Amino acid sequence: MLRRFLTLILTIQLLAVAPAAVSAQEADAPAQPVDRSATGGAQTLEDILARQRGEVVDDTFRREDDGRDATMPNVGALGTLGGASDPELWRALRYDSANISSTARGPAATTLMQDGGMWWLEFRQGPLREYGAYLLGGTLLLLALFYLIRGRIRIDGEKTGRTITRFQAVERFGHWLLAGSFLLLAATGLLTLFGRVAIIPLLGHEAFAPMAVASKWVHNNVSWAFMVALVMIFVMWVVHNLPDRTDINWLLKGGGIFTKGHPPAKKFNAGQKLIFWSVIVFGASISASGLSLLFPFELPMFALTFEKLNALGLPQLVGLGELNTVLAPHEEMQYAQLWHSIMSFVLIAIIFAHIYIGSIGMEGASDAMTSGEVEEQWAREHHSLWVDEVKAKETQAPKGATPAE
Ligand code: HEM
Repeated sequence: MLRRFLTLILTIQLLAVAPAAVSAQEADAPAQPVDRSATGGAQTLEDILARQRGEVVDDTFRREDDGRDATMPNVGALGTLGGASDPELWRALRYDSANISSTARGPAATTLMQDGGMWWLEFRQGPLREYGAYLLGGTLLLLALFYLIRGRIRIDGEKTGRTITRFQAVERFGHWLLAGSFLLLAATGLLTLFGRVAIIPLLGHEAFAPMAVASKWVHNNVSWAFMVALVMIFVMWVVHNLPDRTDINWLLKGGGIFTKGHPPAKKFNAGQKLIFWSVIVFGASISASGLSLLFPFELPMFALTFEKLNALGLPQLVGLGELNTVLAPHEEMQYAQLWHSIMSFVLIAIIFAHIYIGSIGMEGASDAMTSGEVEEQWAREHHSLWVDEVKAKETQAPKGATPAE
């Protein structure tokens, strides 16, 4: 009887308390943070009982806890790693033995870490940037100094008022396609390499991020225009850039830069031939390493090159020993990136000098690549043998003459 009475009282109490508890929970939302300091942040007995009572328990404190104590790494409760320790997992990742579940099974999918990466990163962030900046800055300084000492190279004689056609439209198109694409590639390449140290401190991450994305897009796509233009100028101008006897005389006289009068030259003088071959050789090398970077799995370059160099005995000769010929795709890309940048730095420095001499450095030069027509006196002073050739051709076949005449 007493038991029945107590049960009835309890039931009435529960019925009275339950809605009150629910409404209290609803009224309290959002729930106050629960003090779990007694369990070190783990769930409490009350959490467990609440779940058993079927109540909704906010479990973010467990879901977002990876088991690591930020102040004491690797100490404390077992986290999401279960019984595996961090060092074991990192070791497996580092030596490609981790069980990586990925649907994208590309080549080298299991290589998530690679020792050479650190060496490459440090070189890229250190000496590459530093010496690259010295090279470009030093070249600009030398050119400024040259300008101060020598001044503009003027046309010495009387201008004739007559012009000679120096470059046809297709030649000028090829040149400007090459120049335009090269300048864009140089600017975006330098932005990629120096952005973190030069742009982020000035404009911040938010501003640099879209610049970096745009830079990469421009760099990858404009490269095709550069390669096309490179082939164009090679085909059009290689004949005029083959070395001949006049070059020795021109070089011995230093192009007449510091003396009165310039040594005789054909269409291109020895200095221009050096520029032409630099553009071809460095441009081809930059293009090849760039293609290797765009298609690392299809066009690896370095293992093959190292094999050939080893066979020739060159690395052994300079004390480097045999070069490693088994390279992961990542290593291929690291070498390709360094080669690409170093070759580009050298070519940019050479092109600085070319732009200087083709614009403010020499009176009358830029006309050749703008209108295509140059002052005859300029042509006589810089390319006397070429003028003779042109004039000889003109006398053989006068302008407007047809074969029937
Ligand atoms: C925007 C700046 C540039 C200017 C003002 C400029 C100007 C010139 C001029 C005036 C010539 C003809 C010289 C002559 O009549 O003999 C020339 C030729 C040439 N340019 Fe440029 N150029 C520029 C950029 C470039 C770039 C970026 C490249 C290559 C990446 C390049 C490659 C060449 C080559 C290979 C020749 C023929 C060889 C020579 O004359 O040195 N140019 N340029």
